[in-house]
Parts: sequence; C-alpha cells; structure tokens
Amino acid sequence: MRVLVTGGAGYIGSHAVRELINSGHHVTVLDNLSKGHEEAVDPRATLLVGSTTNHELIIQRLHAHQIEAVMHFAADIEVGESVLDPYKYYANNFSNTLKLLHTMVIAGVKKIVFSSTAAVYGNPERTPIEEDQRRNPINPYGRSKMMTEMAIEDFCHAYGIGYTILRYFNVAGASPDASIGEDHKPESHLIPRILHAVRDGGEVRLFGTDYDTSDGTCIRDYVHVVDLARAHILALEKMEEGKGNIYNIGSEKGFSVREVIAACEKVVGNRINVIEEKRRPGDPAVLVASSKKIRKDLNWEPIYPRIETLVQHAWRWHSNHPSGYAGPLDLQLSTFQTS
Ligand SMILES: NC(=O)c1ccc[n+]([C@@H]2O[C@H](COP(=O)([O-])OP(=O)(O)OC[C@H]3O[C@@H](n4cnc5c(N)ncnc54)[C@H](O)[C@@H]3O)[C@@H](O)[C@H]2O)c1
Repeated sequence: MRVLVTGGAGYIGSHAVRELINSGHHVTVLDNLSKGHEEAVDPRATLLVGSTTNHELIIQRLHAHQIEAVMHFAADIEVGESVLDPYKYYANNFSNTLKLLHTMVIAGVKKIVFSSTAAVYGNPERTPIEEDQRRNPINPYGRSKMMTEMAIEDFCHAYGIGYTILRYFNVAGASPDASIGEDHKPESHLIPRILHAVRDGGEVRLFGTDYDTSDGTCIRDYVHVVDLARAHILALEKMEEGKGNIYNIGSEKGFSVREVIAACEKVVGNRINVIEEKRRPGDPAVLVASSKKIRKDLNWEPIYPRIETLVQHAWRWHSNHPSGYAGPLDLQLSTFQTS
C-alpha cells in the first residue's frame, strides 16, 4: 500500500516507517521537523518537510504519490505544556488533524490509522482499561486527542473514511540495532529520564510513594516501540473503508516506578540515585490497558513483553547516541513550504 506517514521523523513514527517498508509498503513521510529528526527517517522513504496545515500541497502530494492511506502521528505530546498552552494543543492536535481529514476527503484517501492515547480515559473507572470505558480526559492534551477521535468517527460515518484509532499507553525501547530511538526535547518519559540520569550522573525524581499499590509507587503499562509499530501495520492491512475500530495498546502487565528503576539498574549495572517527592496532582495510581481486543481482532502479540528488553534496547540507543540525533543534516530533501 502507498502510505503517507505524518510525524514520521518522530520517535514512534520513524519506527512505524521502518516496519511499513520492511512489510513491503511504500512510504511518504510528512513532518515539519518541529520535534522530529531527518536522520530518523528511513532513507527508503520519501521525506516531505512540511506541515499538516498545508492543505493544497498535501492534496497535490496525495495525488502525485497515489496515497491510499494515512498514518497520523504528527502532534504535540507534552501534557504539562498543554495545560500552560492549550491553544497550541487544540490547534496542532485537533484543528490541524481536522484539516488533514478534510484534505483526505478531497483527495479520496479513505483510510487512517490515528495515534491516540491512554490520556483520553483520564482517571479510569476500572483497570485493566477496556476500550468501551468512558472518555473523560483531564488535561488539554487528552481532550485534543478525544476531540480528534470524535471527528474521525464522524468522518467515517459521513464520508466513508475507514479508521483505526490506537490508544497507546507508555511507549519505550528503541530499534534493537540502536539505529533509531527516542530523542524528545524536553524528555518527560520515565525510562529515558532514568537512563539520562545514569549516563550523566544525575538523579531521578520519584513522585509519590504512598499510592495504594504493592510498593506505593504508580503502576504503568509499557509497550516496546517496535511492537507498537507492528500493531500499526496489522491495523492498516485489516482496515476497511467506511468502518472503524479502536484498540488499546499495552502489554496488560503494569510495572511500578520502583520496578522500572530496578530494571534499569539491572541493565546498566549501576545504582540509581532516586529522590523521593510528594505525589503530582492528576497522576492516577494505576494505568494498565486491556489489550484483549487487539490480540483477538488483529492477532497482535508483543515480541518484546519484558521490561528488561525494553530497557536494554533503550540503553543501547542512548549509549550509542549520547546527544540523541546529531541535528539537521544537509540532505537533499524533497521540500515544500509550510504555511
Ligand atoms: N510517546 C508516547 O509515549 C506516546 C503515548 C501516547 C500517544 N502518543 C502519540 O503518538 C504520536 C507520536 O508520538 P512521539 O512520541 O513519536 O512524538 P514525537 O514528538 O517524537 O513525534 C511527533 C512528530 O510530529 C511532527 N509534527 C508535529 N506537528 C506537526 C505538524 N503540524 N505537521 C507535520 N509534522 C508535525 C514532529 O516534528 C515530530 O517529528 C503523537 O500523536 C502522540 O500524541 C505518544
């Protein structure tokens, strides 16, 4: 299939691009490089440096590359920033996706895989969280994703767009060959923060040790980025125009913050300096996905379910790329103006 991948220079998108190409698909990446990295983009893909807001040119490229489906990763992803600057999140995550969906309708592209998040559930009513739990996000990031989910559902109903919404829980790890990995600036995710602290001799702040969990720290569900990327390919290949599905992607097994720290210590062979702090407001004690539905419908099984493997692959990436990606390369790219 010929696929447009928005945000394909980012962490998860770049892994999906590689898996798509390895599975025989043709990929065009659209990324404005606001957070992405040119070096992360598989050289077998065509990279268009531009924004999802650039309506006319996207329509032109959808036609020119005979695109049949869109994988939409492009978004801003910082929950804290979304509270301080909600306009940025509603504009980029919701409004720009609405424009992209309209572009797809005009160009006759009728399939989309959308990156959503556990944040649409807010404080869950039950765990493991099943897909039919009420959406009740508690911050603008989660709300921007919920609003986008709703728009996609309406576009399916009205214009026959087929969709798969994948709600990710905690994504971690890197390509096992350490050639691509996680390089967010700023980095807010637990595993890379711990590994940065090990590398730089710093400390890790642990928020809340009095939760009602086995060791008092929060429990989260981790999925390896390559397993997540594989889920996108399965979703794409099974999708039908005019029909939609929503799946959680987690491993169904939660790990506490202390367990994650212990796994990191084991992999790097060093003690980690931990500073215990009070709870942060808005952090639920347990966020664990039920992934029964995706296992049953799409036959998805994680290849890397062990937390140690996630950490090992992440550590290999961080050790080989101590400053992340080197920075913009002077590549000859197929470039168009952003609006
Ligand atoms: N990382 C996680 O743990 C996690 C968890 C849940 C959901 N998600 C979702 O997964 C998706 C990818 O996350 P990520 O961690 O790879 O983030 P990322 O920041 O690494 O990648 C996002 C990419 O989108 C690009 N981008 C942003 N706005 C754009 C626009 N308007 N036009 C073109 N390109 C644009 C950025 O340059 C970047 O390359 C996001 O939609 C995010 O909300 C991520």
